[in-house]
Parts: sequence; C-alpha cells; structure tokens
Amino acid sequence: MPVRVRSRVARHNLYSRFFGIATTSSELLGKQTDVVTELHPLVEAAGQSGSLPDWARCGPRRRAHAARVANLMSSWATSLGLGGDEIVRWTAAGHLHDALKDAPVESLESLAESGWPEPLLHAPACATRLRADGVMDEELLLAITYH
Ligand SMILES: [Fe+2]
Repeated sequence: MPVRVRSRVARHNLYSRFFGIATTSSELLGKQTDVVTELHPLVEAAGQSGSLPDWARCGPRRRAHAARVANLMSSWATSLGLGGDEIVRWTAAGHLHDALKDAPVESLESLAESGWPEPLLHAPACATRLRADGVMDEELLLAITYH
C-alpha cells in the first residue's frame, strides 16, 4: 500500500473505525488493489455534477434516488475528513450505482457474470460498462457491483 494511502488510513483510523480490525483494504478485498490518484472523467463528472454516462438507463425517479444516495455518500466522506477528490469519488459512487437499473434484462445479462439474480444484474453490469470505458478504480467498481 502506498505511503500516502497508508498514512490516510492510519490518520483517520479507517479500518478499525469501521470494521473493528486493523487491516488494509487489500486484505479486505483479498487481492492487491491499485490506488487511484486521478479521477476518471466519467467518475469526476458524476461526482461533480451528477451527470451519468450516455449508456445509463435510469429514469427520473431512479436519478432522484441516486442523487439522495450521492448526498449521503458525500456527507459520510466529509464527516470522515476525506479530501476533495475522495468526496467527489464517494459522491460519484452514489450517482452511478443504479445507472443501469432501468435497462432491459437482456442487455444486462451480457454484461454481468452468470449467477447473479435478475434484480441485481444492473450492479455488476454497471461496473462492467464503467471498466469498458476505462474506469480502473477497483474499490469504486466493487462498491457499485455489490451495493
Ligand atoms: Fe441498485
């Protein structure tokens, strides 16, 4: 884990605060994760203004729900004392998490691995689409996949 991230985790006591354990995100995820130092334009746009990718299938009621989740995520990130980019990143997760919620099931099945129950397909499908657009932030993608 890079020094910058390790010091942030230690400074805010993030893992013991939330999980009651002293560990690293890599251990929690069971694999090595890359640290994101620059926000992808799609993530930045979602986090800054709530705009969604062109491929999003998300009606007005769903967008309103996502905006409420994004506000909550933003307030949590702020309460944790996280920096500006982290707040944008957490806010983006809120806006993006249901971006494919209103997509036809047939289109989601081709994007998600097999085994997902139909009502949950939109989540891994959204992560797959974001990956295809170049989003490499695995923690963000995991948050969306498993929300
Ligand atoms: Fe969802």
